[in-house]
Amino acid sequence: MIICVGIGPGDPRYLTELASTHLRSADLVAGFETVVNLVRPILSNDTRIVSMGYKDQVEKLKVVSQAHHAGERCVVAFMGDPHFSGFQFLERVEAACGHQVETIPGISSVQILASRAKVCFDETTCLTFHRRGDLEPFKRHLLNAIKDGRNAIVLPRPWDFMPKDIVDFLLKYGIAGDHPVEVWENLTIDEATWYGKLADCTLDFSDMSIMLIRTKTPMASQIIEEPVK
Ligand SMILES: C[S@@+](CC[C@H](N)C(=O)[O-])C[C@H]1O[C@@H](n2cnc3c(N)ncnc32)[C@H](O)[C@@H]1O
Repeated sequence: MIICVGIGPGDPRYLTELASTHLRSADLVAGFETVVNLVRPILSNDTRIVSMGYKDQVEKLKVVSQAHHAGERCVVAFMGDPHFSGFQFLERVEAACGHQVETIPGISSVQILASRAKVCFDETTCLTFHRRGDLEPFKRHLLNAIKDGRNAIVLPRPWDFMPKDIVDFLLKYGIAGDHPVEVWENLTIDEATWYGKLADCTLDFSDMSIMLIRTKTPMASQIIEEPVK
C-alpha cells in the first residue's frame, strides 16, 4: 500500500486525524527531510523513515516503491495539501510506483494565510511558482488575475523568483505600486509578517514565505448592489 498525505502547515494541531492515523500505522514514512521531521514525533519507533532532498528524491522514491511492492504500508508525507504545489512530487511518486496513488488532503499554507489575512477564496487567485520548469504561463496568469481585480496568494520559487522578483515583474508589466501586500513566513510555526505597498516589497524572505497581493478595487462581497426596480 502507498498513500500520499498532506501534513498541514507545520503546527501538529493542523494535522488531520486521518493523516495522523496513516502515519502512525505505517511501516515506512517518506518525504522531504523538513517535512518528515515535522511528523517524526508521532511515528512509532519501528517505522522506517526515508527522508530525501531535491537531488536524491528519484533514487529515494525507488526505495519507497520497492517497499510498497513488497507489501509494506508506505506513507509519503507532503507539506500542507498535496494538491496545491505538490503535484510534481506526486507525479514522481507515481512514476516510481508505476501507478496512480491515493491522496489524503491536508490543510494548506494557503488556507492558513486566507484565515490570517481574512481574504475570501472566491475572490482570490492562488498560484504557485514553487515548481520546476517554465514559469512564464504562471506569470501571465498572475498578471491577468491582478488586472482582473482579484487578490492573489502566491508561493514564490526559492531562490530565483522570490517576492522582490515577483514585484519587479508586476511593476514592469504596469501593475500599480500601491497595491497592499503582505508576506507571511513560517505560518503556524514561528510566524513573521511584512505589510506594505507592492513597490516597497524589496526585502529578502525565507523559502517558507507566502505572499498576498490585495486588489485595489472593491470585491464583490463589498459592493452594495442597487435594488432591481
Ligand atoms: C512545495 S510548496 C508546498 C505547498 C504545500 N503543498 C501547501 O499546501 O502549503 C512549499 C512552499 O509552500 C509554502 N509554505 C508551505 N508551508 C508554509 C508555512 N507554514 N508558512 C509559509 N509558507 C509555507 C512556502 O512558500 C514553501 O516554499
